[in-house]
Amino acid sequence: MSPFDEIESNVRYYCRRWPAVFSTARGSTIVDEDGVEYLDFFAGAGALSYGHNNPVLVDVAIEHLRAGKILHSLDTFTVEKRRFLDAMQRHVLAPRQLDMVIQTVGPTGATAVEAALQLAQRITGHRAVVGFAGSYHGMTYRAASISASMAGRATSAHLKDFVALPFVANVTEADLELLDRTLRSAVDGQRIGAVIIEPTQGEGGARPFDPAYLGAIREIARELGILVIADEVQAGVGRTGPFFSFEGSALDPDIVCVSKSISGLGLPMALNLIRRGLDAWTPGEFSGTFRGNNLAFATSAAMLETYWTDSNLEKGTEQRGLVVRAGLEDMSRQYGNGSFVVRGNGLLCGLDVRDTQLATDIAEAAFGRRLIVETCGAGDTTVKLLPALVIDEEQLADGLTRLGDAVAQACSAR
Ligand SMILES: Cc1ncc(COP(=O)(O)O)c(C=O)c1O
Repeated sequence: MSPFDEIESNVRYYCRRWPAVFSTARGSTIVDEDGVEYLDFFAGAGALSYGHNNPVLVDVAIEHLRAGKILHSLDTFTVEKRRFLDAMQRHVLAPRQLDMVIQTVGPTGATAVEAALQLAQRITGHRAVVGFAGSYHGMTYRAASISASMAGRATSAHLKDFVALPFVANVTEADLELLDRTLRSAVDGQRIGAVIIEPTQGEGGARPFDPAYLGAIREIARELGILVIADEVQAGVGRTGPFFSFEGSALDPDIVCVSKSISGLGLPMALNLIRRGLDAWTPGEFSGTFRGNNLAFATSAAMLETYWTDSNLEKGTEQRGLVVRAGLEDMSRQYGNGSFVVRGNGLLCGLDVRDTQLATDIAEAAFGRRLIVETCGAGDTTVKLLPALVIDEEQLADGLTRLGDAVAQACSAR
């Protein structure tokens, strides 16, 4: 019996979908211990947008380790943190006219969400939160409680001070009326302190909200003194093209949660961007042992300096996203009689085949063709594609061919 079967908890999940023992990786290729190569369209659930072992960032990490630089630092000052803060200001915040401060939090997206909710409650004095159907914000008790996509799943997190509005692809008067009414209401006896939204949903099925709706959230929230939290953990750091998926809308969030790909190398790291005037924390009020991952600060600064000093990556992502969606449209026409729904934004794309078993069969058939894709969305009916943003065109085309074959196989077996 292997150690995985013998002593790893039953909660393990992805290994059941992809039962290989992975060993090495580079770019969009993962190799298992037997030397079998897989094409990775999962990218660490969005944590590896810059590819596995990106050579530029690996060099930075090796140099950091060899030179005996600081690795762990809580929130003391370090050379790496200074360079990282400077890179964020110069390449991300200033060009987008975002007057925000940076709070480094413990290393997970859920920690960033937790901190954002606590700060919003501190500022507004109100605990209740409005979120959206299909949302996913992580697995701490509070984050899971406000993750509508967890509803019906085996989670024990069920705080009651949360209400989920429907997802809005094309805003209507009725959506606006419901939004307005809900934000003015109370939930579980509590007034609303925050709205939290993934401007493009990841686990919810690669779904972008109507930008007009995002603008309406801002307007009503401003009037009522409710804080707007953008959860950019999955869709941020370039996944949809621009650095943040809310760019181009009028969402203008008060707090932005960032994690997953922010280190560039897949290292644990998370932070919140906070509108300067709302930085109401007192020193030490929100803490965490692993807020100072200096290896991640070093690779993150290098990632920002390498990919975010011009618009090449952003344009490349938009271009590759069009290729992916055109490929998915073809599959929908060829195998789904047009009944499948193609969704996405940049390189956060999905094919909703409207059938849980079919989506599972497609992901399984893809794995048989050495392509790694996951399923998501309501009822897990969407095959989600998250290729690395730096994937080359041949690999992208190869992956789409393998996926098309997998869709054909799964559909013909019905
Ligand atoms: C949008 C979003 N928010 C938060 C999280 C939670 O991040 P973590 O798993 O690092 O806690 C995720 C994870 O998938 C996510 O997609």
